[in-house]
Amino acid sequence: MEVFVRITKWIMVAAATLTAVASHAAGNVEAGAAQAVTCAACHGQDGATAIDPSYPNLAGQSAKYLNRQLQMFQSGERDVPLMTAQLIGKSAQDLEDLAAYYASLPGKIGEAVGSDEDIKTARMIYKGGIADRGVAACAACHGPGGLGNDQAGFPLLGGQSVAYTVAQLTAYREGLRASDEEYGAMMRNVASGLTDGQIKVLADYIHGLTP
Ligand code: HEC
Ligand code: HEC
Repeated sequence: MEVFVRITKWIMVAAATLTAVASHAAGNVEAGAAQAVTCAACHGQDGATAIDPSYPNLAGQSAKYLNRQLQMFQSGERDVPLMTAQLIGKSAQDLEDLAAYYASLPGKIGEAVGSDEDIKTARMIYKGGIADRGVAACAACHGPGGLGNDQAGFPLLGGQSVAYTVAQLTAYREGLRASDEEYGAMMRNVASGLTDGQIKVLADYIHGLTP
């Protein structure tokens, strides 16, 4: 149960971090839309029809989360050269505008295609975690319907591309994605207890989550 105490602490830290950044000017949706013309080449006109199944859906994502990720791509803290290259010369306000634009688009709805058995396994992990492996329940932060928590900056997961989710959970587990530093490495901790098989069924289940 120690892990749950740790999670409560993380959530409190996250909430405190938030209050500190909450005074930011909000992004401008129209200004973001104008800039997003180049992003659409990969992420799709609607932000949810990417040209490659391994690219993420952005539509309906938490604006706070998007803005943080864009900042971290720009600084290289989230080390993806392909995305860093898209953000050269953009100001902090540009990133906020892009985040506001994608957050304003309707999210994608998906459908899980796994066997009943796999979906049941995934649901149990998603809703209840795996206590003896230190895996916290995903629903505690991402919500039972995968909607996330915009205020806390916890991302929307529902409808996300399966290949993208598999890649991200694996990257957290291997320590290759460390963008959760400011949240006390919470996703690296969660993912470190998951097997490849569990990641696979979770990604399918998550794709089918609807709020
Ligand atoms: C050449 C293709 C390409 C273009 C153009 C592109 N992206 Fe991306 N984007 C990607 C890929 C691939 C990823 C996944 C990176 C990874 O592996 O983590 C990504 C990831 C992201 C993420 C992280 C999503 C998440 O859930 O964490 C955001 C936000 C994002 N892109 C926004 C943008 C914006 C805004 C633009 C335009 C300024 C843009 N992208 C242009 C390919 C592209
Ligand atoms: C204690 C809160 C918490 C718990 C529990 C949690 N997450 Fe997360 N999750 C986060 C936060 C915060 C982020 C964003 C971290 C970052 O910026 O890299 C995140 C990011 C993610 C991402 C990346 C999203 C994207 O668009 O790139 C995935 C996938 C994910 N979580 C899945 C899960 C799954 C599956 C579980 C359960 C096994 C889980 N999370 C449990 C807080 C949590």
